[in-house]
Amino acid sequence: MKEPNIVNLFPLSIYINQVEEHEKWKKFFIDNVYDDYQYDRYKRESDEYNIVSEHCGKPVLHSDERLNGLFKELSDHIKKHCISTLGIRDMFDVCMVKSWLSRSYDNNENLPRHVHSATHLSFVYYMQVPPDANQLVFTTHQHQNELFEAMFDADGHEEEDTWINEFTFESSPHYVIPPEEGMIVVFPSNAAHFTTPTQSTPQTFQTERLAISGDCILVLKEDEPMVHSKGFINPKHWCVY
Ligand SMILES: [Fe+2]
Repeated sequence: MKEPNIVNLFPLSIYINQVEEHEKWKKFFIDNVYDDYQYDRYKRESDEYNIVSEHCGKPVLHSDERLNGLFKELSDHIKKHCISTLGIRDMFDVCMVKSWLSRSYDNNENLPRHVHSATHLSFVYYMQVPPDANQLVFTTHQHQNELFEAMFDADGHEEEDTWINEFTFESSPHYVIPPEEGMIVVFPSNAAHFTTPTQSTPQTFQTERLAISGDCILVLKEDEPMVHSKGFINPKHWCVY
C-alpha cells in the first residue's frame, strides 16, 4: 500500500514573536510601573494565591500613558497576525480593553483551563522568565479528529485505559509553548489554555515569573466607511449609558 497524503484542515493559528527592545521595557516596567499595580496575592479564604490581577488588581495597564510605546508595539504584532496570517484587510484598529499582570513564584502556581470569553484576540508578553518557568498549553475539548468523546483523553488514566499508542499532531489535544523572555504570544480569545509545570517536582523559581496579558477587539478604523454589517464600528461612535 502506498503512503497516503494527509491533509490537515482549518488550523488554530497562534502567533509567536519577540518584543523589540524587550530589555528596555522590562527595566522600565519593573523600575517605574510595577509598584503601582501590586495587589493582594494571597486569598485567605482558600489559602491560595491570585496568580493574575485580572480580577483583583487594576486590569487597565494599557491605559497607563507610560506604557503607550509598549502597547503600540503589542498592537502592531496583533495587526501583523491579522493581516499576514489571517489575510484580513488593513481596515481595522486594535482596541485594547483589558490588560493585567500574571505572576507566579513556584511551579505549583498554575492557571486552570480557561478562555478569555469577551473579546476577539488575546496576548501574553513574557516580561521575566526564570529557568523551568511554567509552560503555556493550548488545548481543545472539541478535537475534530476525535471519533468519540474522550478517545484522545489519556490524562489521569492508567496506561491500559487509553486508546492512544502515541499522540501525533493529528490526535494531540495539547500544544505546549515554553515561555521565553521577551516573547509575545497572540491567540484567539476563545482558544482554551492553561499553564503547567516544566518539572514534576515542587520547585521555587529563581525570580518571579512575570507576564502582561491582555484582551482586545478589532474595530473599524475611524476613516473607514461604515458599510459593513459585521464587526464593530469605531468606538468614537459608541455610547455608554
Ligand atoms: Fe489566559
